[in-house]
Amino acid sequence: MIEATHPLRPIWLDRKEDAVTVIDQRMLPHELKTLKLLSTDEVIAAIQTMVVRGAPLIGVTGAYGIFIAAKAGKERVMDDPYLETEARRLIRARPTAVNLAWGVNRTLDAVLAENTPKGRIDRARREAGEIAEEEAENSRKIGGYGLELIREASRIKNGKTVHILTHCNAGALACIELGTATAPIYTAFEAGIDVHVWVDETRPLNQGARLTAWELSQRGVAHTVIVDNTGGHLMQHGMVDMVIVGTDRTTYTGDVANKIGTYLKALAAKDNNIPFYVALPSSTFDWSIAGGVKGIPIEKRDEDEVRYMPGKPKTKENLLLPENSPAANYAFDVTPARLITAFITERGICKATNEDIKRLFPDKIC
Ligand code: MRU
Repeated sequence: MIEATHPLRPIWLDRKEDAVTVIDQRMLPHELKTLKLLSTDEVIAAIQTMVVRGAPLIGVTGAYGIFIAAKAGKERVMDDPYLETEARRLIRARPTAVNLAWGVNRTLDAVLAENTPKGRIDRARREAGEIAEEEAENSRKIGGYGLELIREASRIKNGKTVHILTHCNAGALACIELGTATAPIYTAFEAGIDVHVWVDETRPLNQGARLTAWELSQRGVAHTVIVDNTGGHLMQHGMVDMVIVGTDRTTYTGDVANKIGTYLKALAAKDNNIPFYVALPSSTFDWSIAGGVKGIPIEKRDEDEVRYMPGKPKTKENLLLPENSPAANYAFDVTPARLITAFITERGICKATNEDIKRLFPDKIC
């Protein structure tokens, strides 16, 4: 088993080399490798090929992407259209997670306000670092609020194990430090509450089986990996006490885009009267979209991710389908607000309604 540093961060600035360094998540759980990102093209490739993934992390990576573009651009650092073009290219790297545009635009705005080359590079480095620290703090707060939900479930069960189902990886690897969906779980575990996690494998890229299971193992949290269609069966048999997932984009009306298959878990949870929580920092809200199903762009990825089962640690190994069968690879789906019990945010817990989101975020336009 490969050991990671604690607290786990999938991105950081190597201060000696002034270089942005990331964990190459394609290699996990077999190898813990890092990469240095030195150009906008490398940042875009890292986001598209899932070296880095998960909404808050790609927001932070996008922010550092502006720093990298500013530095790599040399004399063009004072050329606003150059920086604006690089920002647009970064934002286009993946379409669903709104954090990417948020992180890129926030850093770009900060940089454009500076009037010297050094000022611009320093400001980009600082802004991206601040975004990373804020996301780490957000995950700690989400952990604190979510802890109370798990504590209550444990109290109702007289201290018996609380079984939590999660989908994809909304953990430290997808964010900074505690993750979103995993933050309440880690915080409850540290508080001595008996928790067990059902980990959806999350085909086709197996973020649950590869990444969430690895993170949970590292921390010693009890867990079991299940194939994606198992959740409904477990719920029917009283083996799931709550579902906690992350999100890539949440409308101000409470619709949630998350990894493909999340919607089906929400339907099964509703049918079995099981609370379905979505944990998110405010950077994952899209304050401009009302209806998620029609409004949120859903990424379609390469068919080969479905056609082949990745091997160790190659990206393609065993062909699963007949040579000529086409495949479709929708990476996300939308869970309508009516299926969501509550959001766990850095400002507290709220219902998935526009009114209650506004109560927590009165300063946002919605
Ligand atoms: O395609 P991915 O691996 O980037 O998808 C990630 C997810 O769906 C996560 O659940 C989501 O980003 C929330 S991360 C806190």
